[in-house]
Amino acid sequence: MTQTATSALPLDERLERGELVVFERCPFALPAGEDLRFLLARELDGVSKSITLFPASGLMGGHRPESRAEVARLKGLLAEFNREATAWLARALPRYHAAMRLGPLRFRNVEERGRNYDPRLTGALLHVDANSDQAALGDSFLRVFVNINPEQVREWVTSEQLPALLDRWGDRVREPGEGAPAMPTRLRLRLGRALGIGLPAETSYDRLMMRLHFFGKTDPYLQEQAPKTRWVFQPGSAWLVFSDIVSHAVVSGRYAIDQTYLTPAESFRDIERSARAAIERFWAGKTATLPI
Ligand code: SIN
Ligand code: FE
Repeated sequence: MTQTATSALPLDERLERGELVVFERCPFALPAGEDLRFLLARELDGVSKSITLFPASGLMGGHRPESRAEVARLKGLLAEFNREATAWLARALPRYHAAMRLGPLRFRNVEERGRNYDPRLTGALLHVDANSDQAALGDSFLRVFVNINPEQVREWVTSEQLPALLDRWGDRVREPGEGAPAMPTRLRLRLGRALGIGLPAETSYDRLMMRLHFFGKTDPYLQEQAPKTRWVFQPGSAWLVFSDIVSHAVVSGRYAIDQTYLTPAESFRDIERSARAAIERFWAGKTATLPI
């Protein structure tokens, strides 16, 4: 199934409701011509799952060692993708752009169908994203994907969202004493919001998200029984999703680039729909959506 971005609701509202929003044509400039051909010819180092650039530091890894000029060209093209995507984000989603931290950019240049991977590392099993390489510290993962393959579609499935998964799995993923808030969650959130400050960095947040990520991949309910939506992303299309809130899996495709933006709960239109609010409610013992 594909959808176009035709809904009358604002984009941030749609994302926070757990929608995956598709743009049939990527709304920012993409590498073309010789640059695209150069990108599509790059290879992995034989160990990594993708080529990764950390745009904030300029560090890059996962690529096959090549001449200095080729490495510089690759890094330049990926950095340019980041600049274009981020400039678009500033226009389309200013509330997130103003508050976000830049996460990694990944260039996924290997065919996903039939890829043989450690089940803990594969994106082919349904999962919610947890921190990879960079602690979330309570921020959500807003991810912009682009299918830069000129010929072939990329396919995904999506399924249940974080609050429903917490309801289902809560007792099995919780560790004793984990994340017990010092005072009732809602009060803390209200207080934090009133004072305009975030809650203190919560490392148990990242540990819990990582356990949820792995738990989902082994859970027969999520993998087999849960309701699923199938997505076919055309060449040149882009899609956005809060990937720690919406469970997802890649089915097939080659040559996608995605940029992660670590988005604080405070920048949500409705903080209660953030991943952190869902986790805070879970820790407080009530995962049902609270009245606003
Ligand atoms: C992911 O699971 O976050 C990545 C999916 C993909 O490679 O398209
Ligand atoms: Fe993922």
